Amino acid sequence: MSAPTPIIIDTDPGVDDAMAILYALSDPAVELVGLTSVFGNVTGDRASRNARALLELAGSDLPVAEGAHRPVVQDLQPPADFVHGVEGFGEAMLPAPARAPDPRPAHDFIAEMLAERPGEITLVPVGPLTNIALALDAHPEITKLVKRVVVMGGAVRRVGNVNDFAEANIWQDPHAAATVFAADWPMTLVGLDVTEQIICTRADIAAMTGPSPRCGAFMAHAAEFYFRFHKDSADIDGCHLHDPAAVIAALDMSAFETVSAPLTVTLDGAEAGMTREGGDGPPIDICIGVDADAVLTRFRDHLSSGRLP
Ligand code: RIB
Ligand code: CA
Repeated sequence: MSAPTPIIIDTDPGVDDAMAILYALSDPAVELVGLTSVFGNVTGDRASRNARALLELAGSDLPVAEGAHRPVVQDLQPPADFVHGVEGFGEAMLPAPARAPDPRPAHDFIAEMLAERPGEITLVPVGPLTNIALALDAHPEITKLVKRVVVMGGAVRRVGNVNDFAEANIWQDPHAAATVFAADWPMTLVGLDVTEQIICTRADIAAMTGPSPRCGAFMAHAAEFYFRFHKDSADIDGCHLHDPAAVIAALDMSAFETVSAPLTVTLDGAEAGMTREGGDGPPIDICIGVDADAVLTRFRDHLSSGRLP
């Protein structure tokens, strides 16, 4: 087997973020270097707390560097607590984490990790892109140090999930997204165009409760709220596998079909956060198709492998 892929997940945990993080910890093809937290599904404080508490649940002492609590330009939008719950993990509660965040802010942590391992690390932002934009502003050299940036976000040939135009991560900070999409570095966009084709069911999560009783019980409890949101809002028996799909794309793009095009972001007005092909930015690999069964099988097989407690 080839060497594991080193990744940093920038996250606003979040139920599907938790699925992505636990998946990353369970797949031996991943070397999870650390997490950076960002506001989005929850407040900035809660995102940092949830990221650290989740790693401790899984018995991991990986670093969590706390990031932005608000967007780079626009006002902070209220968290969508009807999607992930007020605390971010539905009705599931985790004990307060014993460990403090890494002493470095997220944007400096990202730059230092990339500088230590030039060309090796893939950044996987699965929340608003604020930390990534701040890292680019403070450390522009990271465009030459990162292996790839694999973003969960956007809706390019599809309607959004916040409104007809915008996907949540981009909508929360469109100015940061515009900065990130304008940077000259290898980037893949894993947006609603593909993530809404992948439906994780209760059975997929239940499969982990036997082999990993502690993490499985938590994930099944946290996912219940998220499943109810999908049933009530879209009559789906399950949930969209947004964030885990981005982690899997960072490891292996064989299940995804892409087009290469610049990406523009609408910055304000009723269509703020809308992402469309076009403009004069550098080309981005935009996912437009996916073998949903292949992604779901990989997700389920590793999550239920018993590698988690
Ligand atoms: O639109 C889906 C994205 O927004 C996911 O990352 C979810 O966790 C929320 O952050
Ligand atoms: Ca997320």
